[in-house]
Amino acid sequence: MRAAKRLHTEKLLLLFFLCRSIVVIFSYKLPAALVEPLANGFRVSIPDDRGIKSVAFNVNRNRNFTDFEEGEFSAQVREPEDGRWQHDFERAALRAHDTLYIWTNVQHGNVIYRDKSLPLQVCQLSGDNLPAECSMSPHQHQNRETTTVKTDAAYKGSTPKASSCAEESETVMSPPPSHPLCKGQLIFEEEFENLNESRWLHDVRAPLDSTDAEFVLYDGKARVLGGQLIIEPRLWSSYRPDLHITNAHLDLSDRCTGTHNRQKECVLLTSGPLIMPPVVVPRLSTKESFGFKYGRVDIRARLPKGDWLIPLLLLEPLMESYGQTGYESGQLRVAMARGNDQLRLPHGKLIDGRTIFAGAVLSTEASQREDFMVQQRRSVHFGDDFHVYSLIWSSQSLRFSIDGQEYGELLTGFAESDLNPSWRRGGPMAPFDRMFYITLGLSVGGFGDFVDKLRTSSFEKPWINKHPQAKLQFWRSQEQWLPTWKQPKLLVDYVRVYAI
Ligand SMILES: *[C@@H]1O[C@H](CO)[C@@H](O)[C@H](O)[C@H]1NC(C)=O
Ligand SMILES: *[C@@H]1O[C@H](CO)[C@@H](O)[C@H](O)[C@H]1NC(C)=O
Repeated sequence: MRAAKRLHTEKLLLLFFLCRSIVVIFSYKLPAALVEPLANGFRVSIPDDRGIKSVAFNVNRNRNFTDFEEGEFSAQVREPEDGRWQHDFERAALRAHDTLYIWTNVQHGNVIYRDKSLPLQVCQLSGDNLPAECSMSPHQHQNRETTTVKTDAAYKGSTPKASSCAEESETVMSPPPSHPLCKGQLIFEEEFENLNESRWLHDVRAPLDSTDAEFVLYDGKARVLGGQLIIEPRLWSSYRPDLHITNAHLDLSDRCTGTHNRQKECVLLTSGPLIMPPVVVPRLSTKESFGFKYGRVDIRARLPKGDWLIPLLLLEPLMESYGQTGYESGQLRVAMARGNDQLRLPHGKLIDGRTIFAGAVLSTEASQREDFMVQQRRSVHFGDDFHVYSLIWSSQSLRFSIDGQEYGELLTGFAESDLNPSWRRGGPMAPFDRMFYITLGLSVGGFGDFVDKLRTSSFEKPWINKHPQAKLQFWRSQEQWLPTWKQPKLLVDYVRVYAI
């Protein structure tokens, strides 16, 4: 009898709490965050509501959140202002091609609410400070990712110069051009007379976000001298002589450009066999200033010479629309030769600096890399001289050449490899049917470009891929590789992109 009564009371209590929490759940609805462009950034806000105690905004540019993780831009707001909880993100000018992803965290009473807003296209925001390119042609922006300029009738009609092209181009670029692009037109030119830092953004981050991590920290500025860009690796000991390579802590958060996993990319903490990246290299890109889809890229460069050095002459995805881990959205290598003077696969094939590779990077696995690469072997090291490395990227194929001589072609159908099911959502060229930007840099060692059991003329590869102490193994064998770094710089004379 007593037991039954207690059960009844418990039921009533449970009902009471259920009702109470339902009341709480429905008493506040988190509104979508409002974004307003500022002269050099943007403001995010939500209206005040009685009961709000604090608000936090997390914003990513061109990158969806996978969870409620910290954003590329994040801020905690403790007080409302003029009836709104708001934060101004400065020094983050919005670009016409940007998509913003936002999630908001609100403490209302004792309850925490978090919500992801729908992605926002910058040109669809309102305010006085929209990027100038937004007013050029609405069609260009809305359809840029799915439609080429060629099929955009409204865009052609609105532009008087449309008929002046002998042949129209399938190239699309960002910021969008003021006139339709003609085939063969130069759309990007960098001669490196000086280093324009509004055009070239330097990375500051550790590449720890995927399993092909190279043994470097990306930091420091490239130099320009005599019309050439110089990208030079240096050892940890000259980068931070005050900070030992083991048992150390380096927090780069205030300058960090990492967007995938800021905890890993921006804060370095080492102990035991974990060490700091033994080599530090500049890496720069046009991510903030220039992107394009389809075109011919010419890069005149002299590649580095030295064991385990890899030049990075890349196109990287602007939006990562097919996924954000392990090359799901693809990467293109305009050219790559391993710096080693002699390097043999276990079965004897030579893959050193006299073999040039180029193509698509779609996997972190070194053993799968070459499935999507073309190659050519010559009798001299590619680091001996300057060459013009070209990629002709169209909606039909990827074609590669050196000094105007074509040596390989990759056709469509990457989706058939089944490496990423979401490529089937795209066109035949997916994932290479989206906007990409240019990256220049250099990497050292790592797991993606060197399979195990490689041999130089004198030594076996000093680290084992995926081994937790790989970086340490590499560092400890310094007396083997450092003397071979007689010409470790990557020199870039120019980068040009033409519409096709
Ligand atoms: C963003 O990611 C969430 C999952 O975190 C997913 O539900 C949503 O559809 C994604 N949005 C876009 C536009 O891809
Ligand atoms: C630097 O680059 C920006 C963005 O591409 C461009 O608008 C500007 O004209 C460049 N400045 C110089 C001096 O070339």
